[in-house]
Amino acid sequence: MKISAILLVGGRGTRLLPLTLQTPKPMLEVAGVPFTEHQIRKAAQAGISEIVLATSYKAELFEPYFGNGEIFGIKIKYAVESSALGTAGGIRHAAKLLDPCDLVVIFNGDVLGAHDLKKQIQFHQEHQADVSLYLTEVDDARAYGCVELESNNQVKSFLEKMDNPISNLINAGCYIFKSEVIQQIPVDQVVSVERQTFPELLKAGAQVFGYLDNSYWLDIGTPAALVKASADLIMGKVFSPATPKHEGEYLAAADSSIDTSARVEKGSYIAPNVIIESNCQITGSIIGRGAKIGADCKIIDSIIAPNTQISAGMIVNSNYLGF
Ligand code: GDD
Ligand code: MG
Repeated sequence: MKISAILLVGGRGTRLLPLTLQTPKPMLEVAGVPFTEHQIRKAAQAGISEIVLATSYKAELFEPYFGNGEIFGIKIKYAVESSALGTAGGIRHAAKLLDPCDLVVIFNGDVLGAHDLKKQIQFHQEHQADVSLYLTEVDDARAYGCVELESNNQVKSFLEKMDNPISNLINAGCYIFKSEVIQQIPVDQVVSVERQTFPELLKAGAQVFGYLDNSYWLDIGTPAALVKASADLIMGKVFSPATPKHEGEYLAAADSSIDTSARVEKGSYIAPNVIIESNCQITGSIIGRGAKIGADCKIIDSIIAPNTQISAGMIVNSNYLGF
C-alpha cells in the first residue's frame, strides 16, 4: 500500500492580514519554524514518503526553505496554481505530480491537530472507504464544515459554514482519498472540495466515512489562534516533531539577547537577533527576528514583526505590531 500526500497551502490568509502581506500563512513562524514544517514532519513521521505542496499565493516562498525535502525525511514537490483553483481544484492539480499510489492524504495547510494519522489510515482501510475525513467536536460549528454521521460512522451530510449547524462535528481538515477518486475531480477548473466534491460524492453514493478524534485541534487562521498555537507547542500542550528542543516554558534562539532581569514565559518564542532589554515581561508572545524590545515593556499574547522596535515602557496586549 503506497500512501502519498498533498498539502493545501494556496489560500490568501485574509483573516491573518496584515501578517500575510509578505508571508503566506503556512510560512509564518509557529514555535520557531514555518507552520508548514510541523505538518511536513507529521506526514513523514506517519510513514508518508512523498508530499506535493499545492501553492498559489506567494508560491515562490516555499521551495527555498523546504527544497526537495531530503532534510525533512520526505520527498517534496511543488504544484503552483497560477490562479487559485480552490481546494479540490488544487488537489486535482497537485495530484498530477504524484508518483502512482493507492491512497492520498490531504492536509489543510493551517491545522494544528494531534490526531493519530496512522490510526486514521487504518480506519480508512478497515472501512474500505473512498474518502475518510478527520472530524473533531467544537462548541460552535458555524465557521467550519459541519458533518452529520450515521451510527456506523458513514458521513450522511456535509455542509460548509452553515448558520444553524446540524451537529457539533466538524471537518478537521485532513482527508484520505482513494487515488482514483481524485481522478474524478475536473482538471484545471476552480472546484471546492467542501462545497462541491464532498456533497457530490455523497449524492453519488460514495463510501465516505468520518474518523472522530477529539485530541488537541486548532485552525491557525487568525492572529490570536496563531499565537496560541505557538505557545501551546512550546509549553508542550500539543506535540509536534518540528518544535525545536528547549528547556522550560519558552523558546529562545541562541543568538538572541535577553536581559537577565527580563521575564519570558508562557510559551513565548524569541527569534534570532532579538534584543530584550531590562525588566521586560514577555508572555505567550512571538518576537520576530531582529526585533528590539525596549526596557520595561509588557508584551502579552502578541506578535511583534521582524525588525520592529518597541519603545521602552510600552504595554502590548493581544496585538500584532510592525507588519
Ligand atoms: N492550493 C490551494 N488553492 N489551496 C487553497 C485554496 C486554493 O485555491 N484555497 C484555500 N486553500 C487552502 C488554504 O491555504 C488552507 O490551508 C486550506 O486550503 C483551507 O482553506 P481555509 O481558507 O483555511 O478554509 P477554512 O478554514 O475557512 O475552512 C476549511 O477548514 C476548516 C477546518 O479548519 C474547510 O475545509 C472547513 O470545512 C474546515 O472545517
Ligand atoms: Mg483555515
